[in-house]
Amino acid sequence: MNFREMLHAKTDRAESVLKKYMPEITGYQKKVLEAMDYSVLAGGKRLRPILMEESFLLFGGEGELIEPFMAALEMIHNYSLVHDDLPAMDNDEYRRGRETTWKVYGDGMAVLAGDGLLNLAYETAASGFDLAKTDQEFIRTACAIRVLGRKAGIYGMIGGQAGDIMAESADEVTGDMLLFIHEKKTAALIQAAMMIGAILAGADADDVEKIERAAYDIGIAFQIQDDILDVVSTTEVLGKPVGSDAKNEKLTYVALHGLEKSKEEVERLTQEALEILGSFESSDLFLHELVKSLINREK
Ligand code: IPE
Ligand code: IPE
Ligand code: MG
Ligand code: MG
Ligand code: MG
Repeated sequence: MNFREMLHAKTDRAESVLKKYMPEITGYQKKVLEAMDYSVLAGGKRLRPILMEESFLLFGGEGELIEPFMAALEMIHNYSLVHDDLPAMDNDEYRRGRETTWKVYGDGMAVLAGDGLLNLAYETAASGFDLAKTDQEFIRTACAIRVLGRKAGIYGMIGGQAGDIMAESADEVTGDMLLFIHEKKTAALIQAAMMIGAILAGADADDVEKIERAAYDIGIAFQIQDDILDVVSTTEVLGKPVGSDAKNEKLTYVALHGLEKSKEEVERLTQEALEILGSFESSDLFLHELVKSLINREK
């Protein structure tokens, strides 16, 4: 299989793991369950669960314990998108080539669908305790849940999204603020993905720290590329509105440093990440190819 075929297979696998943990659409809460399904099953690159499993494999992980965490992180990512698109946040009407959750279900239901996904994510991750076969796996599951909570919360994604809103109306913006926002709103969930993969596979603390650093680079590069695409792409290719950042007067890497410098930074960070990943003994070249492919991604 070439890289494209492998990526396709791994995307399908992440998708089927996610589907396995999505609840049945039934009962008086049917509407909110429908809205959750609508936002989660709309496609998407499934980058975070794929990175999580690759990191798990990099450290010799085996078995099913990774699966509830793959699903949980993608639920959190999707909740963050549902809320990010809300009129009170980025006010966007398209995502993944179709109307955003709030456009279809109304903003009240979209808020609740996001909240539903967030809670379901922890319930799902905690089901890992049922799969743990040894005391060690039990402890790793607990550690992984803690990382998930920290990287998704106020010291992670939520903190970054709050910074993102504050920067819209800041009198003065700095490179430091920008880096804070990118690190927290985007790199944090990518760090969660790769750290949890490593932790569940039994990697030691030093290696988890190295993975955290590589994922930081990958995450910042990923958000800079997202900001570039918001300027240079089209809605048809991207599946979400272009020019959203300018409309909302967002602090982005492109706004602060220009397109050329932004592209250089994506390359530089990617190389840095690849160097760290190259320091681990492994024959897994897919992960390296995947990280490289993000430099030129078009969506
Ligand atoms: C979009 O993430 C939000 C950012 C952090 C830039 P993705 O580009 O991974 O979105 P999907 O899941 O593939 O749609
Ligand atoms: C959002 O960044 C990051 C999240 C935590 C959701 P953006 O606002 O740039 O993401 P898109 O462009 O809407 O996907
Ligand atoms: Mg946003
Ligand atoms: Mg947005
Ligand atoms: Mg964006």
